[in-house]
Amino acid sequence: MKILAIETSCDETAVTVIEASGTYSNATFTVQGNALYSQAHKHAQYGGVYPTLAKREHAGNVVPLLKSALKEAKLYTETKKALEKEAVTFLEKLLHRETGLAQALTTLLEGMEKPSIDAIAVTKGPGLEPALWVGINFARALAYVWNIPILPVNHLEGHLIASAVTPSTEPNTYAVEDIAFPVIGLIISGGHTEFVYSTTWGEYNVIGATRDDSIGEAFDKVARLLGLPYPGGPKLSSLAEQGRKTLRTRPAHLTKDIPRLPRPMIQTESLDFSFSGLKTAVLYTVRDMGELTDIQKTLLAAEFEEAVADVILAKVTHALTLHPAHTLILGGGVSANNHIRKKLDYLLSHDMNGYHLRLPAPTLSTDNAVMIGMAGYFMHLRNAPTQTGAEELSASGNMEFE
Ligand code: KG4
Ligand code: ZN
Repeated sequence: MKILAIETSCDETAVTVIEASGTYSNATFTVQGNALYSQAHKHAQYGGVYPTLAKREHAGNVVPLLKSALKEAKLYTETKKALEKEAVTFLEKLLHRETGLAQALTTLLEGMEKPSIDAIAVTKGPGLEPALWVGINFARALAYVWNIPILPVNHLEGHLIASAVTPSTEPNTYAVEDIAFPVIGLIISGGHTEFVYSTTWGEYNVIGATRDDSIGEAFDKVARLLGLPYPGGPKLSSLAEQGRKTLRTRPAHLTKDIPRLPRPMIQTESLDFSFSGLKTAVLYTVRDMGELTDIQKTLLAAEFEEAVADVILAKVTHALTLHPAHTLILGGGVSANNHIRKKLDYLLSHDMNGYHLRLPAPTLSTDNAVMIGMAGYFMHLRNAPTQTGAEELSASGNMEFE
């Protein structure tokens, strides 16, 4: 089946057309059209995502992105026709809070044939509510005009599935090879740090979560302390890479002035995390050391990344000991982090061998609509309820794994 997927939960606006087939154990996905716009640079001046700006940016970009994804998927055929009056009224009413969106969408829809799409998958939550609403109302408008069903997707399930699939030899194609359940999923992103235990797709038990900051937030805040612009996670990670190089090549006395940072909750029985203390420790270190040299910054970044990786490895070991799982799936934006990927890979092929490890392809680790389409297809496979465009659908900022 052909799914149009829409993601607007944070600061990426993304629209994808995906062809999906098969079952839970052998699903295949071909990305036929994919358009993504990251607003991150626009939020940099605020040091984090500014919800009102995110909403405005989604509303301004989602129509051109849809057009581009449809064109790439060869589903855009030009025509000239007027939308029925009732549809125009519906769009105007539904999209009245998103300045210019109703008009832009009406113009697009009046200039094209109805594409052959079977369903629309859209992120319902969790995420920033003002941002989520744009995608949801946009999906409803399309579903109404094209008379196709909506699959309201949990963004976190999207991250998990995106990490479970493997790129196949065909271009833009991903396959689900048999995943050995039970699975332990660990989502590490800007919005979340959550452990789930699952015996089948669609059923998730939360077994641990952060008590304060998410890992992504910790990366972004520490990056800011070191003078790196938002979103600092990837930049901080490059700095840490340099720091590790320095540690390997410089005499010890040049590197000894960086204090060891805490590894919060590393020894506790619980599978919960806490990162605010680690962030504060970096803050105090920066304050106490005064102006940091470039080398000191790289060393501090490396120590921070090591502390985070140590905590993740300890918690993963603990989770696999407590729960009878066969597979560990790591998902979310921070799973793009090379150091964490390498250390987990090492752990699961040495001290904790015998488990399967699934890591996302780099293009699927941060927010995207491909994973929303995949999760939508999985919902279809388990006959999850769909909605029509005319039915109410709310954003769910704090949506939980269920
Ligand atoms: O999943 P995602 O794109 O958005 C949310 O759903 O939150 O995750 C974004 C987060 C940001 O905090 C970003 O700094 C972090 O993922 N991130 C990284 C890396 N790439 C992205 N953090 C550390 N190392 C990376 N390579
Ligand atoms: Zn995400």
